[in-house]
Amino acid sequence: MMTVVKQEIQDASSYISEQVGELHPEIGLILGSGLGVLAEEIENPVNIPYSDIPNFPVSTVEGHAGQFVFGTLNGKTVAAMQGRFHFYEGYPMDKVTFPVRVMKELGIDKVIVTNAAGGINESFQPGDLMVISDHINNFGTNPLIGPNSNEFGPRFPDMSTAYSANFQDLAHETAKDLGLKLQSGVYVGNTGPTYETPAEVRMLRTLGGDAVGMSTVPEVIIARHAGMEVLGISCISNMAAGILDQPLHHDEVIETTELVKSNFLLLVKTIVGK
Ligand code: 6GU
Repeated sequence: MMTVVKQEIQDASSYISEQVGELHPEIGLILGSGLGVLAEEIENPVNIPYSDIPNFPVSTVEGHAGQFVFGTLNGKTVAAMQGRFHFYEGYPMDKVTFPVRVMKELGIDKVIVTNAAGGINESFQPGDLMVISDHINNFGTNPLIGPNSNEFGPRFPDMSTAYSANFQDLAHETAKDLGLKLQSGVYVGNTGPTYETPAEVRMLRTLGGDAVGMSTVPEVIIARHAGMEVLGISCISNMAAGILDQPLHHDEVIETTELVKSNFLLLVKTIVGK
């Protein structure tokens, strides 16, 4: 088990601070598959490729640009991650979650985590947006395994309020004002890279899952450890296996995300402003 060294985080954070000068972001955005377009709406953007940042892993998956975009979104200073690091790519948990600790080091204490996810709840439809009310860590590991650095957070962090109730309320109010449909539910984090079997989807439904994806849970654990306030939004890009009589394709995930992109952008931008 690798332990994350404070110095590594500070080196990454210092490099970023040099690039962005006087910008002090108050909100971090982690943008999921196909949702990176939100970063294109950022005004006066300063782009920082992950490959330039000390100690950052380099993103490989298609559809993930792999950069931070700093700037203004709806009047708020934000730091957006265009592309994230997935466990299934082979990055260890400390690398998957490293950017969250860097955000915290930069003074960010609110984070909006987004993803594309498969719908488990049969009342959902592809294209729905879902506020994450809670999660199930089904990764079979935890990013906090290993010696705890008390400077990052407590040994045994509370997870009873992983997803801020205030932020969830704000998301629902905002969706209502905008006339957007917004579901709410429990996100299950699986390692991937396989999609689930129909039997696994039935199991996850029995366990209380409403949507399933391959990200988010590690970042949220680290964010909560660090005392950051979290909003999670899933874009239900497809129904999980066994619900509709069709196989799952990554292309479909990207296509549906394209279709709901405008709703997603509007919702998240408006929430950021508030
Ligand atoms: Cl159906 N499963 C998982 N694990 N991730 C997904 C998905 C399904 N659809 C989009 N992402």
